[in-house]
Amino acid sequence: MIYNTLAKYYDTLVRDEEATRAYVDWIVSFEPESPVLELACGSGEITHALSALGYDMSALDLSARMIEKAKQKDLDKKISFTVQDMLDLSDLGTFKTIFCVCDSFNYVLEKEDVKALFKEAASHLETGGLFCFDTHSLDRLDEFEGEYNETGQFEDGVQYQWSIMSEDEYIYQDFAFYRPDGTVLEEHHMQRVYDPEFLIQELEEYFDVISVKTDFDQEGISEGEKYFFAARKKRGIQS
Ligand SMILES: C[S@@+](CC[C@H](N)C(=O)[O-])C[C@H]1O[C@@H](n2cnc3c(N)ncnc32)[C@H](O)[C@@H]1O
Repeated sequence: MIYNTLAKYYDTLVRDEEATRAYVDWIVSFEPESPVLELACGSGEITHALSALGYDMSALDLSARMIEKAKQKDLDKKISFTVQDMLDLSDLGTFKTIFCVCDSFNYVLEKEDVKALFKEAASHLETGGLFCFDTHSLDRLDEFEGEYNETGQFEDGVQYQWSIMSEDEYIYQDFAFYRPDGTVLEEHHMQRVYDPEFLIQELEEYFDVISVKTDFDQEGISEGEKYFFAARKKRGIQS
């Protein structure tokens, strides 16, 4: 199961206050309304930041360990966290805002599941409700053709190796955790990078696309690391 071991070290490896602020500013720029649902919330940095701004937050993630980490930060118990697949929102209610950020979308590996995710999000939003997400850009595939490698050691003595490489439209992230007792835990992640034109076309079935940007602030699709999409649910689409 991905994020089983990584959950423990996720914040140490990737927590970035500046990036969290940039994501929050980007979401808030669309004047989202509560209730808000975050898909694939991970360790909940953005969930908590939005909760602190007064939004009524619900958040889900497929990894029980990531949800555990996110819950530990929710000292006021204000946020509703669930362990759930973002491809099946069937037992959840209706929201005014749904979002999915920080490359979580790229864990959706099949085009049919992208379509299903957009349909699910639309059916759990009120008409006019906001749906926003980001994805790795196509340029990331070129960047990771040459393998990226990082090694280090955590405070508990566990050493790690993190490698990222791409092939065709996929990004592979491999983690190895070398424990002081000599055992090694591994995780292998696979992400798919979609053509933004495909995503826009599929979004338009249920949503009016209101913003497409690259790297938070460049209008449209251009060279960069991430694409950002924001859309509002069309009239006449069933909840
Ligand atoms: C790169 S992390 C990002 C977490 C979080 N959005 C953040 O801002 O840090 C990706 C997250 O997606 C979650 N994930 C992957 N596939 C999922 C799915 N089908 N349903 C729900 N969560 C999923 C993983 O468990 C992981 O916590």
